[in-house]
Amino acid sequence: MSVRKAPVLGDVARLAAYPFVPGGTTVPIARAEGAWLELPDGRRILDAAGGAIVSNVGHGRPEVARAVAAALEQATYLVPPFATEARVELVERLRRAWLPPGITRVVLTSGGSEAVDAALRLARQHHVAAGRPERRKMIGRDLSYHGTTLATLAVGGHAKRRAGLEPLLFDWPKAPPHYCLRCPLGLARPDCGVACVDAIEALILREGPETVAAVVAEPVVGSSGGAIVPPDEYWPRLAEICRRHGVLLVADEVMSGFGRTGRAFAVDHWGVVPDILVGGKGLAGGYAPMGGVYATDAVLAPIAARGEDFMFYTYAAHPASCAAANAVLEILEREQLVARAAEQGKRLLDRLRAALAGHPHVAEVRGLGLLIGVELVRDRATREPYPAEAKFAGRVVAAGLGRGAFFYPGGAGAARDVVCLGPPFTIGDPEIDFLAEALPRAIDDAARRSG
Ligand SMILES: Cc1ncc(COP(=O)(O)O)c(C=O)c1O
Repeated sequence: MSVRKAPVLGDVARLAAYPFVPGGTTVPIARAEGAWLELPDGRRILDAAGGAIVSNVGHGRPEVARAVAAALEQATYLVPPFATEARVELVERLRRAWLPPGITRVVLTSGGSEAVDAALRLARQHHVAAGRPERRKMIGRDLSYHGTTLATLAVGGHAKRRAGLEPLLFDWPKAPPHYCLRCPLGLARPDCGVACVDAIEALILREGPETVAAVVAEPVVGSSGGAIVPPDEYWPRLAEICRRHGVLLVADEVMSGFGRTGRAFAVDHWGVVPDILVGGKGLAGGYAPMGGVYATDAVLAPIAARGEDFMFYTYAAHPASCAAANAVLEILEREQLVARAAEQGKRLLDRLRAALAGHPHVAEVRGLGLLIGVELVRDRATREPYPAEAKFAGRVVAAGLGRGAFFYPGGAGAARDVVCLGPPFTIGDPEIDFLAEALPRAIDDAARRSG
């Protein structure tokens, strides 16, 4: 694969003009290829996070670039309801090869936050159209992230990102997460009976089921918690609870979708079909901005019966994004990369667990497929985190860059410091070995600087 020479940022002083917040820092990148980023001075960094857990087929695939160019030559912009070959092909491909059975309706957006916001709007519109206007509450969970619009921040439970904005956010109820390392209910596996999922039902009953529109949750908690995988019973039971109370189940798979966890969607691990599924990131693999909301016929039926429409975003289903998504999904299918994500994910998880076993600043290494999180603490024995001001995860990421690897910083609430790994599914064994060496060293570097 060849990547064309790109202009580089030669003058380091120019970088100061770039950050929006004065004083912020950035990393100059000259080009990227496969799983590697290259700095203007020629140094290489392994993109262990696929950007923001986005890049699934790797950087620099020429067929995707060609598909995008051809789409733009054919039609630059069209209102989203107009059908083009690429749009129809993408919807057909999603239905045929990707979406869980029963999820047939597709509406596209420009990104994840927009998509979750649209999913909330869809849930509300569904209930209103069905004659249940009192159903307006969206139940979320602590330790979750659903995006940065005010509505998605409101349904999310990301303490750091909500801080200071609370007066502007809907006061929607929150359920405890399945965070077994520090169980919010004070219980322990395997005897807990997965009480955290029953806590969602208790919350629905407390709020009054007739007032609840939806439960919104990430099937594998992404960067806010650091790839927290639920017990196997969790999602089937959650789906049953929602069904029993007439509450829509919204699975936010912006991070976990499109093969990242080793199945098309994470809900597929448990055979659950939510009412509404949300995707983003991996859909177009970073080659173009794109997200999507996918729903069952039953969700759209009352809206259609009332002759209503569902309002679009101007740049939704952009021809360039549709072409990019089609080409990226085609690569995933042709190269069987979802199975590879399962395989290489297991290899990376095993290697990291071995390399970090007994590490004094690692509380847990967890994940599913190529969505992996490492929870960092000051003291492994007591699980005491570093103080918030230490910004320990950020220090580990900075140290990782110095050692040639980009890890994604995360963590929120009780899971204060987390780094995530989500490399392209094409990652090779030597690159996995490299990461398993680089991460412990980066943690050691950061610990030395943190005292
Ligand atoms: C689970 C989840 N939902 C929503 C979003 C928001 O997506 P975006 O940043 O594309 O707006 C993210 C982003 O990280 C995410 O991980």
